[in-house]
Amino acid sequence: MAQNQADAARRDWLSPCFLGAYAENDSLLESVLVELLRDHCYWRRNVHPEDPPLIPILARDSREYRDFVARMKTELHGLSARLKRTVPFYNPRYIGHMASDLLLPGLIAQLVTTLYNPNHVTDEASPATLSLELEVGLQLARMFGYATDEHHEPCAWGHVTSGGTLANDEALWYLRAVKYWPLAARNACRAAAFEPGHLIDLPDDFTVLDDWALFNLSIERTVALRRALLRSIDEQLDRRNARALAAAIEAARIEALGVAGFHAALDLETTPCVMVPVTAHYSWDKALKLLGMGSANLISVPVDERMRMDVDALEDALADAHARHKPVLAVVGVLGSTEFGSIDPVDRIVSLRHRWRKRGLDYGIHVDAAWGGYLASIFRDASGGLVDHAELRRRFHYFPSESVHHAFGALRHTDSITVDPHKLGFIPFGCGAYVARNRAATDFISQKAAYVFDAEPDEAEYQRRFHNLGKYIIEGSKPGASAAAAWITHRVLPLDQGHFGRLCATTIDNCEYFFEHIDELAAELNGIARIILPFEPDTNLICLAINPEGNRDLGAMNRFGEALYQQMRAGTGVDPHQREFYGSRTRVHRSSLREPMARRLTDALGLDPDSFVVDPDDSGQQDDSLFLLRHTLMNPWLSGHGTDSHGMNFLDRYCRWLGKLIRQTIK
Ligand SMILES: Cc1ncc(COP(=O)(O)O)c(C=O)c1O
Repeated sequence: MAQNQADAARRDWLSPCFLGAYAENDSLLESVLVELLRDHCYWRRNVHPEDPPLIPILARDSREYRDFVARMKTELHGLSARLKRTVPFYNPRYIGHMASDLLLPGLIAQLVTTLYNPNHVTDEASPATLSLELEVGLQLARMFGYATDEHHEPCAWGHVTSGGTLANDEALWYLRAVKYWPLAARNACRAAAFEPGHLIDLPDDFTVLDDWALFNLSIERTVALRRALLRSIDEQLDRRNARALAAAIEAARIEALGVAGFHAALDLETTPCVMVPVTAHYSWDKALKLLGMGSANLISVPVDERMRMDVDALEDALADAHARHKPVLAVVGVLGSTEFGSIDPVDRIVSLRHRWRKRGLDYGIHVDAAWGGYLASIFRDASGGLVDHAELRRRFHYFPSESVHHAFGALRHTDSITVDPHKLGFIPFGCGAYVARNRAATDFISQKAAYVFDAEPDEAEYQRRFHNLGKYIIEGSKPGASAAAAWITHRVLPLDQGHFGRLCATTIDNCEYFFEHIDELAAELNGIARIILPFEPDTNLICLAINPEGNRDLGAMNRFGEALYQQMRAGTGVDPHQREFYGSRTRVHRSSLREPMARRLTDALGLDPDSFVVDPDDSGQQDDSLFLLRHTLMNPWLSGHGTDSHGMNFLDRYCRWLGKLIRQTIK
């Protein structure tokens, strides 16, 4: 009874949010779109209404006009027909990758804003909407617990990117600009024989410090050092020499000299590294390549049995870097890993930095929350406070574990965060975001030389600065439509537990439901196949490993998994109408697991432990990875009330279908 009431309540608030798997809200979408389209046309007519129309009404009768329209319609219908082969992400039968139905406010905002075509590279091309993008940055920052009071430092900022990959690139781009700056400033001051004296709370004049000491200044100290130095230059030198030295600092930076040129002049033994968990998305590899830092400098830290970064292993990696004087640019925690949804212990990553800072090793902490970032809305109350663990535990069956709660609570202590509105934000693709705790870092990015007169920007200066957003981000021209989509979504569903958090909570409900029903599926297939959950989920992704009963070879098990996957994969050459369900797959590599964990998996699956190895032989029985079916459970209609005549919901139906598929495939 209580469950029915909860289902009904959920249906009530969820019903207007999406177009719906059956396009149930088609007339709502159509009426709002038509209304706003008309509004757009009135706007066109009201810009200098005294001007005569340029397209004469009679033009419609001309042959060329009609030909053009005919061609356009033919091609558009062709496109529309082609689009029918698109993967139906909106449907609860889709549990593959990180995509689902789109929230109506964002979808409509995106379509309508495109009519106005704002370009957020500068407010000259987007006076009406650029501020919305900056507001999105602050909305997200507040969800993560960053301070956003514009009158106090640090004050956060953030902006929309094309996706998580670019936000990750930008995080490293920013950290590199800040971390290397003291070295460039020292080199330029030494070359100019400029002695600034004691500037900030450093034990010495910074120009006598060595590379290691300067690279290991914190972001906050580097911000303070830059301001103090520029002030000192301004006070001690005449305007011409001050400008010349400021320009010399810019010319001495890694951004000007290039990695090789910069490092050639240093004592730093090697280029810096970036530490990520082995579960990190491959965009990190790309980021290091792109910045010329070399993917060999991406250090993969092992994970524990829940696929979370192993902080003891991180400690070892940091100790090793410290011993070798290998600079560390950043440690990256993942909040919702791509394959498993696992949540790295951000709180412990933060505490570890405190300790290493005291020993002279300092680095940025970035959190890749491309997937899990929006789950932070579950943890925020309406006044911006962190909801306590006990309260959240009453709402869910298992979520959040204490460790997950601590991780979300510690986000405010990190330096920057990637989050993707186009994933768990339910917004159309092309919308990621980079959010940083301290906007003062933008002082280091400007594409123009820093002159003495903008040494200490005030709030008004920051506002002016962001109106030239293109100078502070990697991208240039960029669509205002995706920022508008995110902004409107956060306005309609504020990022707290009572609004957006409710939607995110349904994804956790899905996961808990699936988690609780896997045992039934496993029992049903007893004696036919072994189904195990290799890792307990932290959030809303679940992987399953499946091995036909009696099979001992990992190679055979992986081929069996692939055969199952072929029945649920989407992609070129697959008719989406022929699919019962759409799933995805992943593999867990032996090299990323510790021995007891690998042994636990092979035992539970009835596999020969010697078939799961780092270096497989050619027998076809061994493999270095274990196949998993991966389920992204973000569609809010997956669990809850039953939807078919037997009262089964989509997850029940999926389990039944998967059981049947396993039996058939074994046959
Ligand atoms: C954790 C994580 N980081 C980064 C990315 C890259 O995001 P995008 O595909 O939006 O570039 C993904 C994508 O799945 C991800 O899961």
